[in-house]
Amino acid sequence: MQLLNQILFGIYPYIALSVLALGSVIRFDREQYTWRSGSSQLLRRKQLVMGSVLFHVGVLTIFAGHFVGLLTPIWVFDALGVPHGAKQILAMAAGGVAGALCLVGGLMLLHRRLFDPRIRATSSFGDTAILVLLMLQLILGLATIPVSAGHLDGHEMLKFMNWAQGVFTFRPGVADLVADVHPIFKAHLALGMTILLVFPFTRLVHMLSAPVWYLNRRGWQLVRTRRTMPLRREAAPPTYPATAAAPLPHTSIQAVRPDTLKAAE
Ligand code: HEM
Repeated sequence: MQLLNQILFGIYPYIALSVLALGSVIRFDREQYTWRSGSSQLLRRKQLVMGSVLFHVGVLTIFAGHFVGLLTPIWVFDALGVPHGAKQILAMAAGGVAGALCLVGGLMLLHRRLFDPRIRATSSFGDTAILVLLMLQLILGLATIPVSAGHLDGHEMLKFMNWAQGVFTFRPGVADLVADVHPIFKAHLALGMTILLVFPFTRLVHMLSAPVWYLNRRGWQLVRTRRTMPLRREAAPPTYPATAAAPLPHTSIQAVRPDTLKAAE
């Protein structure tokens, strides 16, 4: 048991974080065209919007809460005069609400992915598996709340903060810090690290680029256009004459920048 604890919470974090970092860099370098969220909005918009908004609001809140809650040095909270008990209650309340929103949204997305034949046919194993893993992780996370309610002074939470920060500071014997916590927490931590491990092989990679690229989306988009006017000079794309593959009369396939489309048409 002691050995399993060492492996899971002393060694596995480093394997997961290394695969996350190296895997993401290698995928970005070698397979940039697969670096996307793989949107299925074109296939079925209904249910996506509501599910996606709930899921993303929830998951981003949880992500920010985990990041700040686990990785902010404890002395910062002490210096700000935030009692450990108050932080524990905030984590349970805010995390609980965000977790519930995320679960409802995520289940809508999962339902759509499994039961819409067109979306199912265009989904990879990874698309469905990562959603299932996230839902399991959410259920485990929500299941920690009643356990945390048993120690509202926040002393268990300090163990997780020390553990998470200890991993990043290479603290010797870091696994011992969580050796005696409730098994639900252990399962949640282990699955959390597994999600980090598989991250580079899934559509989750869009999280890394979303803030940078999506807000001012650039790049080329292939469109069938009737347009004969030349595009803006700096955006002048290669133009391919209509062929059997593009049978509509007076059209051509052009690669255009999405931001020039509306302006020119
Ligand atoms: C390596 C990744 C993760 C770690 C180390 C981690 C760690 C934790 C810890 C220690 C708690 C208990 C906080 C407390 O009550 O003191 C917790 C709670 C929770 N986690 Fe995670 N977690 C991870 C990933 C995730 C993910 C990916 C999700 C959702 C998709 C999630 C959802 C939740 C929820 C809903 C709670 C309960 C509310 C809360 O206390 O914030 N966790 N997590």
